[in-house]
Amino acid sequence: MAKFDTLALHAGYNSADHNHSVQVPIYATTAYDLVDTDRADRLFAFSENAPLYSRVTNPTVAVLEERVAALDGGIASLAVASGMSAISIAILNAAEKGTVLTSRYLYGGSADSFLRIYEPLGITIKPTDAIYDTDKLDAEITDDVKAIYFETISNPNAVIADIEKIAEIAHKKGVAVIVDNTFATPYLLQPIKHGADVVIYSATKALSGHGNIIGGIIVDSNKFNWANGRYPQFERKEYTIRDRKTGKNRSFHEAFPHVPFVFRSRLVWLNYFGAALSPFDAYLAIIGIETLSERLKKQTETAVKLVEWFEGNPNVEWVKYPTAKTTTAEQKALFAKYLPKGAGGVFTFGFKGTEAEQNKFLNSLKLLSYHVNVGDAKTLISNTAKTTHSELVADNQALADILPNTLRISTGLEDLDDIIADLEQAFAAAK
Ligand SMILES: Cc1ncc(COP(=O)(O)O)c(C=O)c1O
Repeated sequence: MAKFDTLALHAGYNSADHNHSVQVPIYATTAYDLVDTDRADRLFAFSENAPLYSRVTNPTVAVLEERVAALDGGIASLAVASGMSAISIAILNAAEKGTVLTSRYLYGGSADSFLRIYEPLGITIKPTDAIYDTDKLDAEITDDVKAIYFETISNPNAVIADIEKIAEIAHKKGVAVIVDNTFATPYLLQPIKHGADVVIYSATKALSGHGNIIGGIIVDSNKFNWANGRYPQFERKEYTIRDRKTGKNRSFHEAFPHVPFVFRSRLVWLNYFGAALSPFDAYLAIIGIETLSERLKKQTETAVKLVEWFEGNPNVEWVKYPTAKTTTAEQKALFAKYLPKGAGGVFTFGFKGTEAEQNKFLNSLKLLSYHVNVGDAKTLISNTAKTTHSELVADNQALADILPNTLRISTGLEDLDDIIADLEQAFAAAK
């Protein structure tokens, strides 16, 4: 098996299948010639696997899907139109009625969607402290629990979850573990190796790395048994996937035993909700992934140095990042275990001063961009409570450890000295 950087450049693509085009072509086509009626029958019966219609499969998107699955050690993946749609599809696919246990430390859009859209659909989303206090987890996994959901490195405070421990406890009860690995990317952490069953990415972020697309990916480990009795949706016989020869209805588990999770995600949720990734955006993500490890190495290196610099800065109340001085011994141990290459480019610090001074500081920055993406090649900053997590009411922000003075930085690829000079002049202007 080729190593990570080789896979990042080559996995999922054989130029001989694409007119020997060295770069992955952009298949700007809606549909594909069915050629003849026999072939059409095979395609619609899923006995031949080839693209039919670009809402559901597209050859450019398929290269991205295979590449990310290979980088993550998964068996297959599904690319969709955004990280949010990847999260929503994964939750709906795993939990048809029932409960999903979630972390309190989540991207604001995830947390907000969990609070708002699932209860009326019969899915209870239950935030629990047991994700970070795993001794309590077993008791929380009642018969109605369908999945455990958390971020491997949390947004925004970079809290690390004990994936192996959580997976061990969940799997004993036949419950799936779904993780959002957006911050780490497969370069820093491969959650499937540690027991995660489904891995989600906002491909918008460090995976593509240039702040020029919106995309999402769901990676399937195919190690979890979705036919263990807890997930009737995988065992229910459906006419849409019937055996066309015998006419007998089949379940997703029977029809696609190798990858039931991504196939059901594709044929139900992507097919009917239609949140398809455009081939052009897939192409940009593929190009971005070619430099994933180089970007993440530098972004991590810069984050570690900036964290040190902030810790010595009188305008700063606190810094949150695995290498920060105030990080607990427990978090440091998880950092050493899961992230030997580092924790990525995102960290937070507490601005010391009034709200007006904080605003002046933000408004005075010239090099650092003020926007709410992360993992971009350009260094950026945002005031978390007023932006990415602003949907949450104050109580939920407090539970997620988001304070009014929390500022989040995502390091880019600029020279460290220039970033520091910009921060210095903005602090001076603010006071
Ligand atoms: C950790 C995490 N997951 C998911 C998302 C949602 O991704 P997208 O913006 O691609 O929908 C974000 C967006 O900020 C995020 O930070």
